[in-house]
Amino acid sequence: MVRSNVNGEWREADVWPGSSLLSLLRDHLGLAGSKNACEQGECGSCSVWLDGELVCACLVLAAQAHERDVRTIESLGIGDGLDPVQEAFVEAGAVQCGFCTPGLVVAVSHLLSENPAPSDDLVREALSGNLCRCTGYQKILDAVRLAGARIRGDQL
Ligand code: FES
Ligand code: FES
Repeated sequence: MVRSNVNGEWREADVWPGSSLLSLLRDHLGLAGSKNACEQGECGSCSVWLDGELVCACLVLAAQAHERDVRTIESLGIGDGLDPVQEAFVEAGAVQCGFCTPGLVVAVSHLLSENPAPSDDLVREALSGNLCRCTGYQKILDAVRLAGARIRGDQL
C-alpha cells in the first residue's frame, strides 16, 4: 500500500511498490495529465513535483512517494480557468499535439516560481529535459517570456 498526499489530498493505492510514481498516478489514481512518452527519463512529459522538487515520475518508484507530497499538472489552474503559464502556452501557440505540454507547463511553473525573470539561456537549460517534437521550441520560449511578464506584472 502506498499513501501519498497528491494535490493536497491523501490518496492510497494498493500498488506494487516497485512500480513507478507515474504508474501510480495514471493507472491507480486516475490522474492522466502526466504523460508517459518514454518511460526512461528522456522526455520530461511526466514531470511532477515530489516534496517541491521537479522529478520525472517515470524514474521515481511509487514506494519513494510514500508519505510524501506529490503535485501534478492537475493541481494547476485557477478555479475552472487557466493559470498564467497555461494561458501563455495557449496564446503563444506553444501547444500543438499537446503530448509534451503538461510536462513543460510543470517545468516552466517550477522555473518561474524560483525565478520569474529567467534569461533565455536559463530557460533553455531548465527545459533541456523536456522534449517537444512539434513546435521547434521557439513558441515555447515565447510562452515562457509571456508567462514571466504576466507573473511579474509587467505592462504588455
Ligand atoms: S515518460 Fe518520464 S521522462 Fe519520458
Ligand atoms: S506539442 Fe507535440 S510534442 Fe510538443
